[in-house]
Amino acid sequence: MLKIGLIGFGFMGKMHFDNYERLMKEGESIQLISICDLQIEELKNSSAEGNIATERDEYDITSYKLYDDIDTMLDNEELDMVDIAIPTYLHAEIACKVLARGYHVLCEKPVAGNSVDGRKMVEAAKQADRKLMIGQCLRFWPAYEYLKEAVADKRFGEVVSGSFFRGSAMPKGWYHDGSLSGGCLLDMHIHDTDIIQWVLGKPLKVSTIAKKVMPGSGYDNVSTNYIYADGKAINAQSDWRLEGDFGFEMTYRVNLEKANIVFKDNIVKVNPNDSEGYVVELSEDSGYYREIKYFIHSILEDTEITVCSPESAVETLEIIEAEMRSADQLGETVELRQGSVV
Ligand SMILES: NC(=O)c1ccc[n+]([C@@H]2O[C@H](COP(=O)([O-])OP(=O)(O)OC[C@H]3O[C@@H](n4cnc5c(N)ncnc54)[C@H](O)[C@@H]3O)[C@@H](O)[C@H]2O)c1
Repeated sequence: MLKIGLIGFGFMGKMHFDNYERLMKEGESIQLISICDLQIEELKNSSAEGNIATERDEYDITSYKLYDDIDTMLDNEELDMVDIAIPTYLHAEIACKVLARGYHVLCEKPVAGNSVDGRKMVEAAKQADRKLMIGQCLRFWPAYEYLKEAVADKRFGEVVSGSFFRGSAMPKGWYHDGSLSGGCLLDMHIHDTDIIQWVLGKPLKVSTIAKKVMPGSGYDNVSTNYIYADGKAINAQSDWRLEGDFGFEMTYRVNLEKANIVFKDNIVKVNPNDSEGYVVELSEDSGYYREIKYFIHSILEDTEITVCSPESAVETLEIIEAEMRSADQLGETVELRQGSVV
């Protein structure tokens, strides 16, 4: 039985909590034991806020062991795994500490505020001989998993172009300080950068234009061209200043030699060049559920984390850093080191 402690009970903490409760009900060999949040008293009976709806409006967590201090939780509970769902600027410090104390760690994306810290986390996991996975959840999202498989097995030939989009209103609180959140580029756009790297491999260069709309929050919208040796036109845009009734949107359109694949309104449609289009039947489970299930099984069965290694999450962060440098120079192309540097 895998005993789990959850750190952070904000938007993502609640999202993870929903999935642990579901996995426990489904009979997985896990037990969520404890929850730690600085504001645990206020959050005991709280509601959820975020881009994607969590399972419920109100949360009663009083049947779990509750803490407002991480060390006190670790000193008092016998845990095997810790789930870190706290703000980005705390990931590296807390993950390294928790790994060094001997726990397996699932940590929310982005891996850290910068790639130097991300590499420290990879090293801490190696030193402690514990598993570390970063919640780059789109790698477990059925619509993106389908794209990965279709591109890898070349059923529609080679990719010739692709466009990815993600947008919403700006999240609240610490996100407004770009030095803590990394702005839209590090926080939101990283999802698409991660998918582009995962599906198409590391680009040779990036060229990014991005704009700061709100003082202090970092770049608030971004458009990046990912440059590959064969010249395929790959672009990703994100905007977290889509206020009013916009809501949340994530989409892609990828064109291949024999078909195009479009993900929109939560539906993946394939449009073959020479026959009628069709909707792809996909699992209705979210990437969050599937990512957590994958990680707990990798611990329970002691299998290697291949879908989302922490090294590859750091490589995605390095591409984001190159995009930031490009944006700082109004779209100058920035070359990426090839091969793994982690
Ligand atoms: N995978 C995704 O789709 C996705 C979506 C949203 C957020 N995220 C990521 O999840 C992380 C958390 O974001 P969020 O939206 O849940 O933030 P949030 O502000 O809603 O919640 C963070 C919680 O952490 C708590 N906290 C802060 N410092 C702490 C500490 N030292 N000890 C214990 N608790 C502490 C806060 O009290 C708060 O309740 C961020 O890194 C963010 O980028 C990922």
